[in-house]
Amino acid sequence: MFVGIDDISFYTSGKYLSLSSLARQNGEDPEKYRTGLGQDRMGVPGPDEDAVTLAADAAWPLINKENRQRISTVLFATESGVDHSKSAGIYVHKLIGLRENCRIVELKQACYSATAAVQMACALVMRRPEDQVLVVASDIARYGLGTPGEATQGCGAVAFIVKANPALLAVDTAYGCHSEDVMDFWRPNHMDTALVDGKYSTLVYLRALVSSWQHYRHDGGQRFTDLARFCYHLPFTRLAEKAHRKLASTEGQSLQGGLLDKQIAASLLYARQTGNSYSASLYTALLSLLENDEDDLAGQRIGLFSYGSGCVGEFFSMQVQPGYKKRSRRALHLGLLENRQELEYADYARLFSYSLPVDGGYHELPHGAAGRYRLAALDKHKRIYTTTGTQA
Ligand code: COA
Repeated sequence: MFVGIDDISFYTSGKYLSLSSLARQNGEDPEKYRTGLGQDRMGVPGPDEDAVTLAADAAWPLINKENRQRISTVLFATESGVDHSKSAGIYVHKLIGLRENCRIVELKQACYSATAAVQMACALVMRRPEDQVLVVASDIARYGLGTPGEATQGCGAVAFIVKANPALLAVDTAYGCHSEDVMDFWRPNHMDTALVDGKYSTLVYLRALVSSWQHYRHDGGQRFTDLARFCYHLPFTRLAEKAHRKLASTEGQSLQGGLLDKQIAASLLYARQTGNSYSASLYTALLSLLENDEDDLAGQRIGLFSYGSGCVGEFFSMQVQPGYKKRSRRALHLGLLENRQELEYADYARLFSYSLPVDGGYHELPHGAAGRYRLAALDKHKRIYTTTGTQA
């Protein structure tokens, strides 16, 4: 029996800042962001959007009459949680109308946790093949105005259904992990922006990649040359190029003749437009690849590297299933990215500095969400989510 991803969808905020506007504001050459980091735009959430609304907007297109009754578990991966105790998944479960007999939990390990969710979901389905698991990964990347990390901010969510005999991707059982206690990126509980040692983080990322890869191979994983495409965690898309060169050189392989582009370029398209979406970023890369690679990938294997600072890395692989293109939501996703509202720098800075009231009173929040769900109000420190009436 194969277990893996049966359907997948993503969402990002309806507003963005162009990185050329940011470069102008910060006195940087726009080429630094465009070529040096590989980023064009960053998603900017509205005052009534958070990890819950982004996740619900990503998840609802996946839900139908049949799987509404079969989804036994919701795994919510995030590092932008809205409560220290209550799982963000409980709000999503209600917003998209899943059955009451469901287990729900939130998972955290920086940008890595959605991969833990994939492995856990596969194990649950192996145990009970009639069950389906909804995995959602949703995050808002915030580093602070004027910091080096600012150009790598962004937001987005990916949702997918894990089930037996999946229509899109079967997850291979071989895996390779690397964990190590490092301070390359972290966010203490009292802070709403991340702290990062960006250059050190890149070094640790590459070290974790090689170590995870070696463990994956030792565990019976595919050879480099048997993997047709590669998806990497993308704090900024240029890092995928560095990672892929590193992996190829570790294996003594050449990427001449356009192989680098062929193996990773289609996976980078969406993240160039959304910016970093932390836990969702690797799965945004996977979706971007499936929807935009010109070749028919049926039967081919994709290598994936998941990385969460602090740190945990995991290398694993999936096999693309025949007929996968029939499930594509490419037009929806390209429309979503294209139809966003461009912000002036001053509007972005205002939104960035907005913070939710914390006095425990009743507050209706300003409208900004372009999707189906919004955080409408706060009342006695409780979050009140509603639908907007938009079918987007
Ligand atoms: N034209 C083209 N490229 C240019 C350029 C120009 N005018 N100016 C600079 N560049 C290149 C640099 O050479 C560099 O590329 P290289 O790494 O291949 O040498 C790249 O642009 C970035 O320049 P750099 O000076 O290193 O940028 P920075 O000090 O402003 O910071 C990061 C970049 C990535 C370190 C910073 O944005 C960051 O910390 N981001 C957060 C990363 C993160 O979240 N990590 C944790 C999760 S993995």
